[in-house]
Amino acid sequence: MNSVLLASNRGPVSFTVSDDGELTMRRGGGGLVSGLSGVAKDDGVLWVCAALSDGDRIAVRLATGGRIDHAGYDTGPLRMLDIPPATFHRAYNAVANSTLWFVNHLLYDIPNSPNFGTRFEREWESYRDYNGAFALALAEEAGHGARVMVQDYHLTLTPAMLRAERPDLRIAHFSHTPWAPPEYFSLLPDDVAGEVLEGILGADHAGFLTDRWAQAFMDCCERLLGAEADRVGRSVTYEGRTTRIGVHSLGVDGDALWQRACEPDVESHMTALREQVGDRKLIVRIDRTELSKNIVRGLIAYREFLAAHPEWHGRVVHLAFAYPSRHDLPEYREYTASVQRCARQIEDEYATEDWDPLILNVNDDYPRSLAAYRMADVLLVNPIRDGMNLVAKEGPVLSPRCALVLSREAGAAAELGAHALVVNPYDISGTAAALHDALVMPEDERRTRRDKLHAAATALPPQKWLATQLEALT
Ligand code: G6P
Repeated sequence: MNSVLLASNRGPVSFTVSDDGELTMRRGGGGLVSGLSGVAKDDGVLWVCAALSDGDRIAVRLATGGRIDHAGYDTGPLRMLDIPPATFHRAYNAVANSTLWFVNHLLYDIPNSPNFGTRFEREWESYRDYNGAFALALAEEAGHGARVMVQDYHLTLTPAMLRAERPDLRIAHFSHTPWAPPEYFSLLPDDVAGEVLEGILGADHAGFLTDRWAQAFMDCCERLLGAEADRVGRSVTYEGRTTRIGVHSLGVDGDALWQRACEPDVESHMTALREQVGDRKLIVRIDRTELSKNIVRGLIAYREFLAAHPEWHGRVVHLAFAYPSRHDLPEYREYTASVQRCARQIEDEYATEDWDPLILNVNDDYPRSLAAYRMADVLLVNPIRDGMNLVAKEGPVLSPRCALVLSREAGAAAELGAHALVVNPYDISGTAAALHDALVMPEDERRTRRDKLHAAATALPPQKWLATQLEALT
């Protein structure tokens, strides 16, 4: 039986299956996974995750009890759950990504959506089943008094479900996203909003990336549930139980990241990029093609900057890496298309024989992203709203002299804002002006600011982040 367990939708590895039936294992993608993978494996934490692909499902069926590590894979203790595909699809795509993500990032086009009807009722039922499958697996695997760390908006109901099964456990929930203010959170049907809040309050400890998101959660508990929130001592009391509220600002492991970024594959991407852009200044952005990342407004701001500053024509290149994400959702496919459209307009307007003002890349290439970080003069991070944003933290670790243009709506602004050029993500002209200020920032100022950004970004690396939460559970 296990004494520390971690639960998240996406696990540390994923499998693909070739035509001849052979399984290949790869590292899972995304910020949450890369933050936690090394830590969990080193500390022998049992990770419970969902099978996301056909390859994953085959791997689960070949492993007794879904224990991928027992089937001979070097993953660290890992149990994958084979949730029926239709249930998984409704829970992950329809509820987690199209509803809870949209609510917490304020992404709805309000005159037209959301619409909660009978279809949503069925989707919500699947979300309950999916959360129940996690609760059941955790209840089976956890030793007496074990500590269980449940991650993110996919699994908001699991803490309360697990507590009902196993009152002996100490349970934490952590939200990697922002939290919506009550007026927006209450777009959700009342019973659904209540279930989400009560689900998380089933934990002993509810963690958030910044004080702002923690306060928003407490506001929702007060306003929607009538719970009692202690703002100073940070806790919520509801129906006789108290859940402590914690703020743990996940940072990056600077040494490990730097080491990875010095490997030959990254160096050769640097050489290739240098050949492509020459000695021009580089404005870099690296994102998933995600609605909340505000890529289109970022491109429009770059266009405004070019229009206002002809002296920079031919002397600057914007490298925009927007790798694919959540393409099962039509909103994301449309968004990718509008990013590409906007990029073409800039090219048409400004490109010359020997100057490409914008290089947009929509394929995932981790070593190339690391190369871009290392070469950046300016890093643009302008999300509409973001739980933290690790790009804002990785950039200053890898670039010795980048100036950071940072949205005030990113969680990272709480720690990095004092040393960044902070922008309102909707203010295109303000963002364009900040790009210019960042480019002309004097050398000593950019290095001083970068050193402070580096220190703040590495203050709470994943190992410590996990340890502080485990401590909070003892
Ligand atoms: C980002 C968010 C996390 C979330 C993850 C899911 O990293 O910050 O909160 O868990 O995306 O991404 P996925 O690709 O698994 O849907």
